[in-house]
Amino acid sequence: MANINCTGITKSYGGHLVIEGLNLEIPDHEFVVFLGPSGCGKSTMLRMIAGLEELTAGQVTIGGTDVTHLPPGQRGVAMVFQSYALYPHMSVADNITFGLRRLGVDKADIAQRMAHVAQLLGLEALLERKPKNLSGGQQQRVAMARAMIKTPKVFLFDEPLSNLDAKLREKLRTEIRKIHLALKTTTIFVTHDQLEAMTIADRIVLMRAGKVEQQGRPDEIFDRPASRFVADFIGSPGMNFRMGKVSRQGGLWAEAGSVRLALDAVLFGHLAEGQALELGLRPARMELASAGTLNAIRGRVVLVENMGAEGQVIVEVDGTDMSFVTKEFRGIAPGDEVHFAIRPEHIHAFDPTTGISLRQEGAEA
Ligand SMILES: Nc1ncnc2c1ncn2[C@@H]1O[C@H](COP(=O)(O)OP(=O)(O)OP(=O)(O)O)[C@@H](O)[C@H]1O
Ligand SMILES: [Mg+2]
Repeated sequence: MANINCTGITKSYGGHLVIEGLNLEIPDHEFVVFLGPSGCGKSTMLRMIAGLEELTAGQVTIGGTDVTHLPPGQRGVAMVFQSYALYPHMSVADNITFGLRRLGVDKADIAQRMAHVAQLLGLEALLERKPKNLSGGQQQRVAMARAMIKTPKVFLFDEPLSNLDAKLREKLRTEIRKIHLALKTTTIFVTHDQLEAMTIADRIVLMRAGKVEQQGRPDEIFDRPASRFVADFIGSPGMNFRMGKVSRQGGLWAEAGSVRLALDAVLFGHLAEGQALELGLRPARMELASAGTLNAIRGRVVLVENMGAEGQVIVEVDGTDMSFVTKEFRGIAPGDEVHFAIRPEHIHAFDPTTGISLRQEGAEA
């Protein structure tokens, strides 16, 4: 069993507070991603859980044991970093088994565990090579094998794929996910790449300036962002934002220039006439439409970006750009007038001052 509990985690460097009273519960077997912009404290959190960094205040427990003051080696965690830091003079096999040999683990046991991780990570043919004769992706796999062979209770990954090219990142991401399905080891994975987080996580913990801004399943974070910050951070192409206000004339509407959208009465029924809001419309949640469609927005096409199976259409509406994503982009050209629409349940709106979502999500279900 290895659930992780963080209570009141606080960290300051000198007088500079970087993590502020952070509470977090990670159940056994879960794959959690710490996501957030550079400098928000992801690595610091991970290093404190690993025992590589002292806490200023707070408590960390792993599998019910208070590890707050235990050294890294006694916490049952294994960490994989962005830089692989393999021993250049040792073979792949020796790199992987080094830690166990140092601990004096039985040779037959080491050999058996080695065979298992080599097979899991597809390293069987590379065991005799030196690190310098491996590709970046292969080196990272060796680093993962080195962590895995210790059969830790918890895996901690700090941006392990950042040094790899896009294709290889995708491949290793899938492999890490498959390994987790097989081993079910509780895992924390740090990244600032929202797509990586969306694809790999059971749960995303989105951090901002040393605090948790929102946590939830990837689809919750994507479809129910609690704040403008989350809405803006998640999703590519990024969300469209428009300042507007509420109208209750003959229905419930959000009005922003020529954009007039019917709002869902359950999600937004509490809003008052004239109330200011910032609309948030996801490009992926809008569709090409005809003029009379509910919630159709009219604009002039500026650019069409071919993304393969779909295209991003950038459209000028009231003098500024918006975009939507469609499979039917091939007939669209710059200068065309188009309509695109969004269903009421996909509309987001935020308080212009606080950035907090104005949707009453609880009422929806
Ligand atoms: N040893 C240190 N001394 C002083 N400040 C530090 C130290 N380590 C980190 N910080 C500060 O703590 C904050 C959080 O840093 P951290 O490395 O955890 O960010 P991060 O979210 O991992 O960012 P990135 O995505 O760039 O890796 C930053 O403002 C950073 O400058
Ligand atoms: Mg970091």
